[in-house]
Amino acid sequence: MSNISDKTFPENFLWGGALAANQIEGAVLEDGKGLTTADALPDGVFGEVSLVPREKYLKKEAIDFYHRYKDDVKLFGELGFKVLRISIAWARIFPNGDETEPNEKGLQYYDDLLDEMKKYNIEPLITLSHYEMPLALAVNYGGWSNRKLIDFFERYVRVVFERFKDKVKYWLTFNEINVILHAPFNGGGIQGNPEEINKSTLYQAIHHQFVASALAVKIGHEIVPTSKIGCMVAGTPVYPLTPSPSDMAETIKKERETLFFSDVQVRGKYPNYMNRYFKENDIHIEITDADKEILKNTVDFISFSYYMSSCATADPELNEQSKGNIASIVKNPYLEESEWGWPVDPEGLRYILNQLYDRYQLPLFIVENGLGAKDELIKDENGNLTVNDDYRIKFLNDHLVQVREAIADGVEVMGYTSWGPIDIVSNSTGEFRKRYGFIYVDRNDNCEGSFERYKKKSFNWYKEVIRTNGKNLV
Ligand code: BG6
Repeated sequence: MSNISDKTFPENFLWGGALAANQIEGAVLEDGKGLTTADALPDGVFGEVSLVPREKYLKKEAIDFYHRYKDDVKLFGELGFKVLRISIAWARIFPNGDETEPNEKGLQYYDDLLDEMKKYNIEPLITLSHYEMPLALAVNYGGWSNRKLIDFFERYVRVVFERFKDKVKYWLTFNEINVILHAPFNGGGIQGNPEEINKSTLYQAIHHQFVASALAVKIGHEIVPTSKIGCMVAGTPVYPLTPSPSDMAETIKKERETLFFSDVQVRGKYPNYMNRYFKENDIHIEITDADKEILKNTVDFISFSYYMSSCATADPELNEQSKGNIASIVKNPYLEESEWGWPVDPEGLRYILNQLYDRYQLPLFIVENGLGAKDELIKDENGNLTVNDDYRIKFLNDHLVQVREAIADGVEVMGYTSWGPIDIVSNSTGEFRKRYGFIYVDRNDNCEGSFERYKKKSFNWYKEVIRTNGKNLV
């Protein structure tokens, strides 16, 4: 029998935060960088695609991390971060994606950023592709629906593995690779309404990303034999809405919208259940023998984001909807929702950790979790500007308690990086008032503000979580 004193985090647990280039850097055309698909989504995933970027939009400057990274990394050092998840903007290295020579200034920027992290002993965790690609690849090649993208991606990853081989051990391939099903432009540079895009085109693009991801694993292991390379999925556990057997069948179907993506990247081949799915949906895709060989380069660990759980039902009359992160989901009557309508379910995190570990027995890394909320900047008793974000502290505390439970269950958890440790531009809605950070950034939805940074109440709380290795959680 375990008692409470057995419930603890491993000594080498990787505590930290997670960011994505297009949501923080700004400087979208600086030092030779090209535009990306993220610049074409100024209002977020649900907005119109504008291939000619607007004059004014939040991501254009974002939080100006490109110029302010030294101060921000210092704050992460003060928080005691063991790890910082960042992404490389492919278009800083290959502005149009199809060049043969990389852009040295782009590489130098990430070199400098990594050196800065090193000063504070912050281990980098790099996402190779976080919801952006050179815009020219979407416009001229049709994004990932085109097989040529595999070669362009291979060239890009070779360059970055070679360049950063002595500085980076932990890598992720495609961020939330499964979300391409619901947002094909955001995840794959494929234009058109998701409902209208031909399913064979979509699954061909997914296949190309699987091959590209496995190639990245192969190349990464060749260039940096000690590297650990993971896949990344949006982890949304699914509960049957009722005990009806048909709701359970629906649950299995819904779960496979996520598990298909980890199955291929962990097991190195397509799962049998996809044969039936492809047949029934008249999906035909090209999978060559060479592709099958490459897919055998499987990941070292599984990473995932966790914001919410969802439900499944076969009964259209019970099918009340809640907002999910990008896809809408069946409402769970037992859960409260955030200001953005996302269900809040800390126990779901323990559930998915157990589910993934039971299925794969590979180490797991929670690389995104957090609460997007409106914050109010106020003066504290000393006259300093701050935010009393007890709601954020409660959200994170409750989720971390469940991570500790999962560890006590026997799940191998490598680390936890909270999403947006500093306020950033939201991905799904392109807003700024939706904030996740421990650090407040003075910016608003009209692209106004001084970019000044202020510590919120949660800053000291998270610092203490890390310092005590989670012993202050309640
Ligand atoms: C994940 C993405 O989907 O959720 C992030 O990987 C994103 O890029 C995060 O920012 C939170 O979503 P949002 O829409 O609140 O920014």
